[in-house]
Amino acid sequence: MMEEEGSWEHFFAVHLPPTDFEDNRSLLKEFCERHDRHGHKIVLVTSGGTTVPLEHNTVRFVDNFSAGKRGAASAEYFLEHGYAVIFMHRQKSLEPFTRHFTGQKLLDMLDIQERGPNTTITVKPDSVDVLAPVLLRYKAAHSAGAILHVAFTTVSEYFWLLRAACESLSALGPRAVLYLAAAVSDFYVPKDRVPTHKMQSGSGAPVIQLHLVPKMLAPLVNLWMPSAYVVSFKLETDENLLIPKARAALDKYKHKMVVANMLQTRHHRVVLVTPESSQEILLTREEVHAGADIESPLVASIVQLHAASCGSDVTRAPLA
Ligand code: PMT
Repeated sequence: MMEEEGSWEHFFAVHLPPTDFEDNRSLLKEFCERHDRHGHKIVLVTSGGTTVPLEHNTVRFVDNFSAGKRGAASAEYFLEHGYAVIFMHRQKSLEPFTRHFTGQKLLDMLDIQERGPNTTITVKPDSVDVLAPVLLRYKAAHSAGAILHVAFTTVSEYFWLLRAACESLSALGPRAVLYLAAAVSDFYVPKDRVPTHKMQSGSGAPVIQLHLVPKMLAPLVNLWMPSAYVVSFKLETDENLLIPKARAALDKYKHKMVVANMLQTRHHRVVLVTPESSQEILLTREEVHAGADIESPLVASIVQLHAASCGSDVTRAPLA
């Protein structure tokens, strides 16, 4: 059967799976089966932006804006609420726990003494209080096998992984949450129009025509995960569009929630839009200065709504 151009089936038919796909698929399967056996809830957190290559041997690509803070911080809070977490992230974007020590922060916390052949590295006394709580949570999550990292770069890698994760998660039914915080490309260059080698400036300015990427929310909600608690995100730069577009997405895809956020204010304001209601979460100026994460109240609200929707107890002891 020939898939219609522009459909999600056609997208999968023309884009081959990534080279490490089968390894990731096995990891996803093992992770989901293990947590399913114990009756745990699992959340798939997608995080970071996807790229669209402009050459097969890629030197240039179109990127989607996202540092990965939303996804990395949210993964930590879901772990605190007892969820097992599949952290599906853009290669080299922020990750849970290590996000607290980006740049030179970690090295600045360490002291080094060299005495003869012996080198000793220690954590500076005033850094122990900063490092210890994060390190403890990191060790607990990893020793409990409560988090699985899988990485993508391009939009097609993202979709292949997303579908594989759904395949493994579908057995959990309503115990699965999909938290789609990644910034996913809406436009791409079809594979057969992408040159093999680096475009040469000597050939003149290239004309690049972008095509629409099919919205994967449609098959995801209708076919792959019909009983999961699906939360998508809506990113806008024009406030007037934000809530109408979030509502339009809910009407169209019929999933559980859209988290609406503006590019400029996304770290201190989000609006949780459900078919029944809309709830704003706003951090105060003081909370922002104190470094509070908006993902803490955001995830707490979602956990509560998820529990209400699948009729389960949210106060269960955390996994890690
Ligand atoms: O990472 P940070 O810097 O902390 O920033 C966080 C964030 C702003 C990236 C995050 O909060 C956010 O809003 N992520 C979603 C961005 C996005 O892709 O929005 P959109 O309006 O283009 O897409 C809406 C939804 O459709 C998304 O949940 C996406 O998963 C889905 N989608 C998008 C494109 C596509 N081809 N298929 C899809 O299913």
